[in-house]
Amino acid sequence: MRLDKYLAETAQCTRSEAKNLLAKGRVQVNGTVCKKGDTQLKAGDAVAVDGQPLQYQQYVYIMLNKPEGVVSASTDKRDTTVVDLVGDAYPRRQLFPAGRLDKTSTGFVLLTDDGGFAHDILAPKRHVSKTYTVVLDTPLTEEMCAGFAAGVTLADGTALSPAQVTALSQDRLTVQVVLKQGVYHQIKRMFGVYGAGVNGLHREAIGSLGLDPDLAPGQWRELSLEEVSKITR
Ligand code: URA
Repeated sequence: MRLDKYLAETAQCTRSEAKNLLAKGRVQVNGTVCKKGDTQLKAGDAVAVDGQPLQYQQYVYIMLNKPEGVVSASTDKRDTTVVDLVGDAYPRRQLFPAGRLDKTSTGFVLLTDDGGFAHDILAPKRHVSKTYTVVLDTPLTEEMCAGFAAGVTLADGTALSPAQVTALSQDRLTVQVVLKQGVYHQIKRMFGVYGAGVNGLHREAIGSLGLDPDLAPGQWRELSLEEVSKITR
C-alpha cells in the first residue's frame, strides 16, 4: 500500500492532511523521516507520526447503544441515523449497521465497514444469536413459549425458526427472547400471532457479546478484536 493511503487510513485523516504530515517531515518509516507519499510500504514496515507508531486496522467494529427514535441506516433524509451518532470520528470509513433495530427499539447495534463480517453474522446458517429484553402488553403464556420453541408461522405465511422465550418478571410481562434469525419486525410479529403487543424492545447481546452497561443511550465505543470474536463464538 502507498504510504499516503496508509497514513490516511490509520491516522484517520484525509489524503491532503496526510500529504501535509509528510511534507512537514513528521512521518517516519522504520525510524527514518520519509516525505514521499507514493512510497510503497512492505509487510512489516513500521510507520510513525511524530515518533508515535501507527497500527493499521483493516476494519473498524463499533458497539452502539441505540436510543429510541434513531433509525438503523447510514443516511436518512428526515431522521437521525445510528451512523450520524458516531459523527465524524471515522471520516475515511464507510460505516453501516450490521443488522437493524426498529426506530422504536433500543440497545446494541453493531456498526462496521467490514461487509464480509456483517454478511456472516446475518446469514441464518451462521446461527449467530441475538438476545432481547421485551416488554409485552399481555403476560407470556405457556402456549406462546411452546409455539415459539417449535417455530410459529406469521400471518403472511413466513415459517420462523425456533426461538427461545422466557419470562424475566413475575408478572410475565418482561421476557427474554433469543433469535437466530432476522425477519423484518420479527419479535413484534411473533407475539402478534398470539394477539400480544410489544411495548418495549431492547437488544442486549449479539452472539455472546453483551451490550456494555457503561454505554448510555446514544453512546458508542470501538470493540477490541477479542470482543468481535465473541460475536461469532
Ligand atoms: N424484532 C422486532 O420486531 N423489532 C426489532 O427492532 C428487532 C426485532
